[in-house]
Amino acid sequence: MPNFIAVAQAADIKPGEIKSFDVKSELILLANWQGTFFAAQNLCTHDNGTLSDGTLIDGEIECPRHGGRFELQSGRVTALPPMFPIKTFPVKVEDGNILVALD
Ligand code: FES
Repeated sequence: MPNFIAVAQAADIKPGEIKSFDVKSELILLANWQGTFFAAQNLCTHDNGTLSDGTLIDGEIECPRHGGRFELQSGRVTALPPMFPIKTFPVKVEDGNILVALD
C-alpha cells in the first residue's frame, strides 16, 4: 500500500506550471498538465538538468539544458539526448492537497 504524503496545495500549481519540492530528501517536481497533476524526479537523467525549470509540452516535460523530453505519466524518454527514463510517482488530490507516494 503506497504511503502518500501531502506535498502542496492544488491551488498553488496552476495548469502549465511546474514546481520543485524536497520531500524526505528526494528532489521531486509537481507538474499540472491541463488540470492533472504529475510527480517525478526533478533531475534529468542526461546531465542532471533541473526539470522544474523546463517546459510542459503535450503531456511531456522538456529539460531546459539540452531539450531532452520525458513523458509525465511514465517517465519514458521521448526526445534525446537522455537515454534513461525519469522516476515518476503516484499522485492523488484530497481536500485540495496534492499527495505523492515516494515508495
Ligand atoms: S541535462 Fe537534460 S537534456 Fe541534458
